[in-house]
Amino acid sequence: MNPAVREIADRVASEFSLPAEKIHSLITSPPEDVMGDYSLPCFILAKELKRSPQELASQIAKTLSGGIIAKAVAAGPYVNIVIDRPQLFSFILSAILNEGSLYGGAKKRDETVVIDFSSPNIARPFSIAHLRSTALGNSLKKIYQHLGYRVIGVNHLGDWGVQFGTLISAYTRWGDDEKIKQDSIYELYRLYVKFNDESERDPSLKDEARGWLKRLEERDPEAFRLWEWFVEISLNAFQRYYKILGVEFEVIQGESAYRDLTAPLIEELTRNKIAEESDGALIIRLNKPGEKEEIPPLILKTRDGTTVYATRDICAARSHWDQYHFAKKLYVVDAGQSLHFKQLFMALAKMGHEWSERLFHVPFGVMLFEDERMSTRKGRIVFLEEVLNRSMEMTRSIIESIEKMSNLSSDEKESVIPDVGVSAIIYADLSRSRIHDINFRWSEVLNFNGKSGPYIQYTHARMAGVLRKYEENVPKSPDFAKLGEPSEIALAKRLEIFPAKVQQAADEYEPFVIAEYLGNLAITINQFYDNCRVLGEEPALEEARIALVYCAKLVLKRGLELLGMRAPERM
Ligand code: ARG
Repeated sequence: MNPAVREIADRVASEFSLPAEKIHSLITSPPEDVMGDYSLPCFILAKELKRSPQELASQIAKTLSGGIIAKAVAAGPYVNIVIDRPQLFSFILSAILNEGSLYGGAKKRDETVVIDFSSPNIARPFSIAHLRSTALGNSLKKIYQHLGYRVIGVNHLGDWGVQFGTLISAYTRWGDDEKIKQDSIYELYRLYVKFNDESERDPSLKDEARGWLKRLEERDPEAFRLWEWFVEISLNAFQRYYKILGVEFEVIQGESAYRDLTAPLIEELTRNKIAEESDGALIIRLNKPGEKEEIPPLILKTRDGTTVYATRDICAARSHWDQYHFAKKLYVVDAGQSLHFKQLFMALAKMGHEWSERLFHVPFGVMLFEDERMSTRKGRIVFLEEVLNRSMEMTRSIIESIEKMSNLSSDEKESVIPDVGVSAIIYADLSRSRIHDINFRWSEVLNFNGKSGPYIQYTHARMAGVLRKYEENVPKSPDFAKLGEPSEIALAKRLEIFPAKVQQAADEYEPFVIAEYLGNLAITINQFYDNCRVLGEEPALEEARIALVYCAKLVLKRGLELLGMRAPERM
């Protein structure tokens, strides 16, 4: 918060001999702008002084006026405070002008956050459903970085396990090398779907697949060669999508990286009696006797002797702890896996790892596509690559049809199209609270007038255009007393809350908080720009408004970057 809040807290503290820090933490924004800039609820303070909150509020209001405080009024148990306008603008805008792109962030700290995100399963094309984890995780990564953390983005690829038994089995039956070379991951996917279809008719196919998995786990050379080939094909394709999306990982380490750690883990857990045998399988019981909530045991090894997803997740968590001693590790994975993560965290706790309290599952809902639910196994799937290509095509035709935008040179157009087309999809994904299911609809995703990615980007480019035309350097300390129009105040106050929004997004693992904020900020900026002329006003007013435009553009850009979106200067 800005220095005005500090001063309010200090003044109340010294008048009433109360702790300033406490008062500082109590000051909020009132629910409506007309009430004032800040509000101090007096319940807690009144209790401390053994007085009635109403009486205290009116006494505080009386002593507060003067200096930076233009007006202080008691409203029942609250004191509503209006700050002297020029000073309010100066506090808010000077902070942004001085901090620049660091605004809303924090200094580097010696703490690491590990974020496991994207983590697709190999040998299946990237579907639009995978986009959710990718977009959320990538944004959380940028948000934590902005807050000064060292962030390790981990791609825990699904490159080991049952599906490889399935795939190898399908390949040995129907595989065609030529087709695979041509259509790589899509052909692998067709084999996978065919296998699932056929095995519904003939369940013995599943045994065959299990057999291949066993051979793979035992390093049978043929199984291993095929596995390596499938992984390579898939990774190449994934890297292409990550490049288009602008997503990078510090560590790409799939489940297979832990395959040699599972045997010693199982030996250790059997020896110290954390794991036990049940029906031929090896499990970790999680319920304590007498506990109400029934948590099924975690399975470490199945009856046919193969290890599973959870076994490798235990190894991965331990290895990340040993390497990073993280402050937090986030798993950005769909809500369908909530039980898995609950079991994983409980099992690690049972193993005596106190750091299991630093593990968090960040769940999210499913992605529907034009009202349809997708299913990988049944082949009802919408490929990310198709969606991205389509988005760019549609962006191109929209840009060509909007007259103002056709002013772009053809080079500019070529670079703007992917910036807008890709970011539109990211915004569509992040613009709802993550736990909700998302229904992806083209009409909303690319709506240049609604609260959409293109609308925010367009507002940013509009402000960039004003600054380009201004030609002078942006004044660092203009005469803020020139500002005072309602739409100027509304804009400054929106900019003021950006740091709080970034913090909230990090605390709640919700990039949506920033996405929503940016949508509102864009609206506020456009309202300001429609009401207030900037260029061509008398010089002092022009300077002050230019500073406001500069701050608005800076926050929009930073916000877009925190979502993993691009902020083109021209559109
Ligand atoms: N590959 C898994 C899937 O697509 C997600 C992995 C998430 N990360 C983890 N450590 N379990 O369902």
